[in-house]
Formats: sequence, structure tokens, C-alpha cells
Amino acid sequence: MKKILTVIGARPQFIKAAPVSLALQEVGLEEVLVHTGQHYDANMSAIFFEQLGLKPPNYHLGIGSGSHGYQTGEALIQLEPILETVAPDVVLVYGDTNATLAGALAAAKLHIPVAHVEAGLRSFNRRMPEEINRVMTDHLAQWLFAPTQTAVNNLANEGIRQGVYLSGDVMMDAIALYLEVARAQFPTLLESLGVKAQSYILLTMHRAETTARPEQALAVLQSLDTLNMDIVFPVHPRLRPLLKSTEFRHIHCIDPLSYFEMLLMEESAYCVVTDSGGVQKEAAFFGVPCVTLRPETEWVETVEAGWNQLVDLFPDRMLAAIQSLQTPETSMAQYYGKGTARHLIAQSLKQALSPSEPFAHMVN
Ligand code: UD1
Ligand code: UDP
Repeated sequence: MKKILTVIGARPQFIKAAPVSLALQEVGLEEVLVHTGQHYDANMSAIFFEQLGLKPPNYHLGIGSGSHGYQTGEALIQLEPILETVAPDVVLVYGDTNATLAGALAAAKLHIPVAHVEAGLRSFNRRMPEEINRVMTDHLAQWLFAPTQTAVNNLANEGIRQGVYLSGDVMMDAIALYLEVARAQFPTLLESLGVKAQSYILLTMHRAETTARPEQALAVLQSLDTLNMDIVFPVHPRLRPLLKSTEFRHIHCIDPLSYFEMLLMEESAYCVVTDSGGVQKEAAFFGVPCVTLRPETEWVETVEAGWNQLVDLFPDRMLAAIQSLQTPETSMAQYYGKGTARHLIAQSLKQALSPSEPFAHMVN
């Protein structure tokens, strides 16, 4: 049986890997799961494994927090002997975290082909650690699953044309698989958080570029707090030090939410304010307007179609955006797929590993 070794380490990767793992099982590919341990709090890691039914990792590297050099280097060191022992046919990585780059680099150095899900995303901002990780990973990968046509074009502009698949976005698969389950499991979530549908703002912040500008980040929070509306803020642990000595009137700081709870909070929000990549798309999926606290986005379709406004960390621009929210009719599916990317990925990998079968979905 052909064997895939998956490397994941951070919250959004657990969410992206869950649908693909199911599809790999369906096509009869064995999967060995490695968790680098980059995210380790129960509400940043274990909850996603339990809720999404991900199998427990075969290897847990226990890396935890630290510098980019430490997180990437330690994962690289620990992955090498695991790859030699497991001898997978493919190493599968997701997105743009330090776990993504470490997995791709460890594999490439051992001549093991790399498959990259969420290939071709670009912010064109090399100050983002994620931009370095995804550019490097794309150039190491043999199979590149691009969620959008823009991502396919970005790869072509860097000379990457072989092994590229326009797969759609696996985060749409996650919504397709889990939204109904989430609704059934948490029927009174809004009440328990003390808010009413369409009458609160959902806020998330976690980017390194945000905490690198603490005064501006705090100014954004203080100006949100002036709005006469409840603001629900599930706080990523990176933000905790910034919030330590600040009190808010309308912003309710809560622990990070599980994925199911997060989907429900997005679905019923008046609007979303975020610096997250995944949350921008989920908001658009639900037809909830989004205000993004960054100067640029990789998910350009959300802005072009009018679902999303980019305001950076400027309070005035943010308030103006919240006062001029748009809810376009355009469907997400034309940009991000219909929630079936996992099948294309699993079938394409199976075909690629059995060369007698045709490469049905490849762009080139
Ligand atoms: C990482 C990814 C980012 C992704 C995000 C998803 C990189 C370079 N960044 O950023 O692309 O969008 O995950 O959430 O890989 N911490 C805890 N407990 C945890 C995890 C983190 O307390 O379980 C705290 C630590 O103080 C740590 C800080 O959060 O130093 C940042 O965590 P880290 O994993 O380094 O980066 P993220 O901001 O989570
Ligand atoms: N998410 C979650 N709980 C939270 C915040 C986010 O489950 O408290 C989910 C969110 O719905 C999305 C994913 O985590 O599916 C996005 O991850 P994150 O914002 O950490 O990283 P990014 O997408 O920016 O890399």
C-alpha cells in the first residue's frame, strides 16, 4: 500500500488536514501523521483532533513555541529519522507555517516527493514569515494543490507549471463536512456567550505583524470598544501579553473557540474583523462582511468581489469600513470550489503514485 506522511503543527492545519485525511482513507492510501507540536494548548490543538475526528498523531515532536529558527530547525532534525524509518511515498504539507517548511525541506533533502495543499498563495510581502514558508515550499513540491486560479497564476509567474492542480480550497470541504454537525452540537452557543445573531462583531487577531505593532494594535482595539455593539474576541495566545493590563467595555475576551463554535459565531456575526487568512474566507462563505486588519491579503477574490475590506491597523479606516459594509450576492464557489477539493487531492495523489493511471486533473 502506498504511504503518505503528513506533517502538521498549527490550528488551521488540523482543520485543513481533517477532510483530506478522510479522502485519503477513501481511496485506500495509508497516512502516517506527524504533529510538530507548534500549537500545544488544549484549545489550540487537542480540541481539533477530538472534534474533527483526526487520528492521534503517530509521531508528536513536542516542539512548542520558540523562534523561527528553533521551530523549523528542530522539526527538520526530528523529521529526518522519522522519514527514514517510515519511508513514505509522499510527504504532505499544508499552508505556510514553520511545520510546512520543515516538512517540505526534510522530505526534499531525502529525495521524497512533496505534495503541498494550499500552494501558490502569495501576499508579496516578504516580511511575513508565512510568505517565506510558502514560496520555499512551493519550490520544493512535486505536486501543488492550488486553491484558486490566482494561485495557479502565481505559481506560473514563478516558473512552476509542472505538477500544478487547481483543486479548490479544502477549507470549503471542512465547512461542507462539519457545519451541520456544528449546528446540531451547539444549538445554544450564542445565548451562552450572551449575544444575539447579527448584533455582534466577531474579532480575531494573531499575526506576528500585528503584535509587532503593539500600539497600533491596541489603538484598533480601543476604537472598536467605542462602538455600541458587543464584540466577541476569542484570544489567540500570542495576543495575551498585549491585553494583560487593558480593560474593555464592549469587547468580550474569551479563550480560543473550537472549530465548530467558531463556524457558528462567524455565521451569525454582524461582521468579522480579523487578521486571519482562514477567517476572511469563512466570513465570505457565510455572506458576512469582513474587515481585515492587514495591508494586503492572499485571498484577493474576497476583496475583488466586495466581501472584504483591507484596512491595515488603522483605527479610522477600520471604523469607516464597518460603517460601509457590503454584502455582495456573488457566490464563493466560483472562486474557492464547492467543497470537494479533498477528493481531487486524494485521487490525484493516488494516480500520481500509480503511474499507469492517467493524470486526470493536472493543469499542465
Ligand atoms: C502560527 C503560524 C501562522 C498561523 C498561525 C495559526 C508560523 C510562522 N506561523 O502563528 O502562519 O496563521 O500559527 O494560528 O508558523 N502559544 C501558546 N500556546 C500554543 C501556541 C502558541 O501559548 O498552543 C503562544 C506562544 O507564546 C507562542 C505564540 O503563541 O510564542 C505564537 O505561537 P506560534 O506558533 O509561534 O505562532 P502563531 O502566531 O500561532
Ligand atoms: N479558528 C477556530 N477558533 C478560533 C479562531 C479560529 O477554530 O478561536 C479557526 C477558524 O475558523 C479557521 C482557522 O481557525 O478555520 C483559522 O486559523 P488561524 O486564524 O489561527 O490561522 P490562519 O488562517 O490565519 O493561518
